[in-house]
Amino acid sequence: MITVKAPGKLYIAGEYAVVETGQPAVIVALNQFVTVRVEPAHGMGRIQSKQYQENSLIWRRQGDEMVFDNRDNPFHYILSAIHLTEAYASEQGKPLRLFNLYVDSDLDSADGRKFGLGSSAAVTVGTVKALLQFYDLALSQEQIYKLSAIAHLDIQGNGSLGDIAASVFGGWIAYRSFDREWLRAQRNLVSLSELLTMPWPGLDIELLTPPQSLRLLIGWTGSPASTSHLVDQIKAATSRSQAQYKQFLRRSRAVVEKLVQGFRDGNLAVIKQQISRNRFLLQQLSQFSHVHIETMKLSSLCDLAIQAGGAAKTSGAGGGDCGIVILDRTVDADALIAQWHKIGVQHLPLNVHLIQPPVVPRLREARSFCQQEKRSRFPCIFSEKYGRALAYLL
Ligand code: PMV
Ligand code: MG
Repeated sequence: MITVKAPGKLYIAGEYAVVETGQPAVIVALNQFVTVRVEPAHGMGRIQSKQYQENSLIWRRQGDEMVFDNRDNPFHYILSAIHLTEAYASEQGKPLRLFNLYVDSDLDSADGRKFGLGSSAAVTVGTVKALLQFYDLALSQEQIYKLSAIAHLDIQGNGSLGDIAASVFGGWIAYRSFDREWLRAQRNLVSLSELLTMPWPGLDIELLTPPQSLRLLIGWTGSPASTSHLVDQIKAATSRSQAQYKQFLRRSRAVVEKLVQGFRDGNLAVIKQQISRNRFLLQQLSQFSHVHIETMKLSSLCDLAIQAGGAAKTSGAGGGDCGIVILDRTVDADALIAQWHKIGVQHLPLNVHLIQPPVVPRLREARSFCQQEKRSRFPCIFSEKYGRALAYLL
């Protein structure tokens, strides 16, 4: 039996803007996982999940057509991930086999409500990784990201795929999305295997190290929100307010770039300042688009955190789900957590999940690994891996 875990995530900054090519966001992977198990099957295969069931379908009418909206059903991400990974395995000359695949998620609460920690992304990454192992295919983190991003894009269609990057690379990341139009065009021109080795225009992933003094606190509102529907609403609204939207994009980029610099410099004060600015920008976006991002509960969650000395904002698409707080580690958060409790906000005591890049097994492989990575478009991931590979060479 193959067992693979993929972590959930939270957006820290840059939301909504990041769905546009090249716009930056900061995202963090958390120690809540989707676990995928695969075993060979005989006669008939089974795909089974405790949390995800195909027991209702959302659809609308378009003329005489019934059009289904599968974007909030994780089952469809599992199927898409299987489809893509098997297409890749076929291209690599692997005979396709029958299997049972089991999915278990701690990204959904015991009563079936989602925390907003990115279960669709984690389930996609988990399924891709499990099946790659099943077919004995070794891909780099960058290639796993690309395969999972295509599988996710085929279902949701309107996301930035930053949650996929967080689930593959782990830890804190600065992320810029690739050009999805370019990808759409390339898919008709080159094979999947070629696509996974090509540089993707716009894509940039940098691993960040937070200052020692930084503490991330997460509050859960208890009400789930649909990212895909909120992004649809923002898209529709912003196409009517182009000038304000362009200004939002410019400001969001500036704020997130300063935030990332704050991480590079290990400067908690700068990080907190930019988090507060990003909250303000998202409030402005909400005002001119008339899309409700910061609900009343999220506002109270943030205001209480600010009174306690933190910088706070909504996380991700908002509309419910979680709020995040950046605090100095020396601040006692117990009083804030108790206040949250009184207004129905639950503290999620989660930690950041780090993923070790694959360790290079042999000297010769280490050398070619270094040469290969030198051509990579991921300088920081490269330098991290390079450092590891070099350490091995020495
Ligand atoms: O609500 P979440 O955690 O799924 O985050 C969505 C973030 C957006 O920027 C609004 C959309 C996206 O795909 O990046
Ligand atoms: Mg959300």
